[in-house]
Amino acid sequence: MQRGNWGSRFGFILAATGSAVGLGNIWRFPYVAGENGGGAFLLVYLALVFTIGASVMLSEFVIGRAAERSPVSALKKLKGGAWPVVGFIGVAAGFIILSFYSIVAGWTLAYIVKAATGALTALDPNILAASFESFISNPIQPLIYHGIFIAVTVGVVTAGVHRGIERSCQLLLPLLFVILIALAVRSLTLPGAMEGLSFYLTPDFSRINADVVNSALTQSFFSLSLGMGAMITYGSYLSHKENLPGAALWVVFCDAMVAVTAGLVIIPAVFAFSFDPTEGPGLVFITLPAIFGQMPIGFIFSLLFFVLLFIAALTSAVSLLEVVTAYFVDERGLRRKPVTICIGFAIFLVGIPASLSFGPWNGITLFEMTIFDLMEYVAANLMLPLGGIAISLFVGWAIFPRALEEATSKGIHPFFWARPWRFLCRYVAPLAIAWILIAGL
Ligand code: TRP
Repeated sequence: MQRGNWGSRFGFILAATGSAVGLGNIWRFPYVAGENGGGAFLLVYLALVFTIGASVMLSEFVIGRAAERSPVSALKKLKGGAWPVVGFIGVAAGFIILSFYSIVAGWTLAYIVKAATGALTALDPNILAASFESFISNPIQPLIYHGIFIAVTVGVVTAGVHRGIERSCQLLLPLLFVILIALAVRSLTLPGAMEGLSFYLTPDFSRINADVVNSALTQSFFSLSLGMGAMITYGSYLSHKENLPGAALWVVFCDAMVAVTAGLVIIPAVFAFSFDPTEGPGLVFITLPAIFGQMPIGFIFSLLFFVLLFIAALTSAVSLLEVVTAYFVDERGLRRKPVTICIGFAIFLVGIPASLSFGPWNGITLFEMTIFDLMEYVAANLMLPLGGIAISLFVGWAIFPRALEEATSKGIHPFFWARPWRFLCRYVAPLAIAWILIAGL
């Protein structure tokens, strides 16, 4: 594929935002925040996003654009040695993440169907919870939706970066955000919502411990699509005039805004309906329909919302699959279409046990984690942060002069934060991530 072919400046930023904004923001963020004490988590999360997160985001853009290659080849071209191994780990992480991501994306697809057939509105919240549980524990149904989701993702990736991704983000992401704001207004005006708001916004510092910091770090990498080369791949398609630090900051900002707003939707409603904030992965799927039930034309809102969430999940999934595909195309010289279809099929298979672990295979655990939890843990808690350490060290120590040249687009754009960025890459990010990882074990 031709490089440097995003349609416009805006096109690239939207596509990168499309990768970042997804289930991570709307499904994962609220329940992880709920499990980790609300306000305390939010504070640590935002602190990490705007320091380490922004720095790694810029580093990935820089590596991608400097090399104009997908991650493994990019690291080879810029430095070689053992560095390309980092790209490999990224490809593996992308594969694992997509396998379980697709299960949850399949749930959103099922909820589109439920919303369209009126199965969601005007029900008692407890019935909504029971119906969610019975759906995800079904051995067959979620797998059908998982298969459809993977097929659609494969379709977009085989169609190519420019046509497939860019256009779909232009209108829909802003629309998703507008709907989230409308939902936040409804949620915050429910009786009893204020207790939730204070849980979410008032940090209880005594709750900040190694687990909370670890969860915040994992969440920030997952939500920003960092640590496995997705942003390297996207950066590699970018024109050489683009202002990278500005783009990185913008993507980080938008992603954080969506997550924070999703929290404002879910958490106050959780308290208003007396759900349990530590409920886990089902939280959003149970709470949202309950909110829709309290809205005029909630039926329309629920349909529109799940459609948009599905599209947000799709643009994220595309970036995951793109990394795996690009590896086989660029490094192994395989043909794009057949290889993408094969990967899609493999991901479908690997996703099956993840889905069954919510039902018949619920009892199969390792280190007290189900198969789904284990896949998520290995990829998101271990591989992504390790990738973040490696990417930071690579930029900070191995190629910094070249990286700085790239970050300023060969001097066209002034970059006042060059020194703090170098300091972040060299010391702060690797040491902080390593410390958080070790403390979290
Ligand atoms: N960031 C996406 C989300 O929030 C998920 C995602 C897409 C991702 N690409 C990634 C996560 C790369 C980690 C790495 O839903």
